[in-house]
Amino acid sequence: MGKRIILDTDGGVDDALALILALRSPQFRVEAITVTYGNVSVEQASQNIQLLLRILHLEDPPPIALGARHPLKRARISAEHVHGQDGLGGITQWMTKEWYSEFKAPRELPDATQLLLRLAERYPGELTLITLGPLTNLAQMLEKAPSSRNLLKEVVIMGGALEVPGNITAAAEFNIFSDPHAAEQVFHCGLSLRLVPLDATRQVCLDRNTLYRLTRSMPSPLNEFVLHISQSVLDYMERTQGNAVLHLHDPLAVGVTLNPKIAAWKPLHVEVETQGIHTLGMTLADLRPLREELLPPPNLLAARDVDSKRFLRLFEEILCRRSS
Ligand code: RIB
Ligand code: CA
Repeated sequence: MGKRIILDTDGGVDDALALILALRSPQFRVEAITVTYGNVSVEQASQNIQLLLRILHLEDPPPIALGARHPLKRARISAEHVHGQDGLGGITQWMTKEWYSEFKAPRELPDATQLLLRLAERYPGELTLITLGPLTNLAQMLEKAPSSRNLLKEVVIMGGALEVPGNITAAAEFNIFSDPHAAEQVFHCGLSLRLVPLDATRQVCLDRNTLYRLTRSMPSPLNEFVLHISQSVLDYMERTQGNAVLHLHDPLAVGVTLNPKIAAWKPLHVEVETQGIHTLGMTLADLRPLREELLPPPNLLAARDVDSKRFLRLFEEILCRRSS
């Protein structure tokens, strides 16, 4: 039996790559996929995840549950400008109606918070939750049942920017900025947390040539899908940063859950700015060179240096493995 995990996703391009990595790794038992607003609306994200599961042809696909439509307090933002209008680089415009015939409408999907709680109670202390989007679903579960934090083994969070610039503002990373109040609640709830910030995820990326090599080395509908959905992010990065690379933010969160040794980890005390004008959503780590007893106690482990080659080898091996 593999490591029991739940994936919480906002349905974008790197989310799809992360789910492919998780769902094709025999070391994982994916108990559920919960969906949230974020890169796109929660409705669009739930359609994207159903499309992905259809393409993967899994014998025993995990249930998909519908989560938050908007942040706890702020107005919802999104990232279609990066991931494409549909969150998957526009690929859904090429899908025929038959593709969607069996998809469930969002309202027919189970509720994410209830499913999270049910699974946490069924597998006390066994479940690792990997969050790939805003933290609203987890925050709502903790609000609904505070004691549920004792039921989760660990939470691995893709989010934050500790000693590097943000990506949605100068100070903040998208997932945390989308719902800083949810992040603040999660960072202070006492759960065992691993944070995978931009400091780490910017160390692992694919350029166009590598992506073509990977997807052409083992031609399959899945690899065609990967190649197509990635173009919008590559184009966005080329247009805005002059460098067509795809940072594997969400896949790295899955990778370090598979093997924590892929990164070096540092216990840190991290706060989330929820009031700032220019710093809203900033994740501020207390990095002062003080004696340990003078620092606030750590509330998480933060991924620092990443063994990029080791991760990219793992990613390539699983992506290019012949479909079962
Ligand atoms: O900042 C990167 C994160 O925001 C990734 O999870 C990406 O998918 C978006 O959700
Ligand atoms: Ca994401």
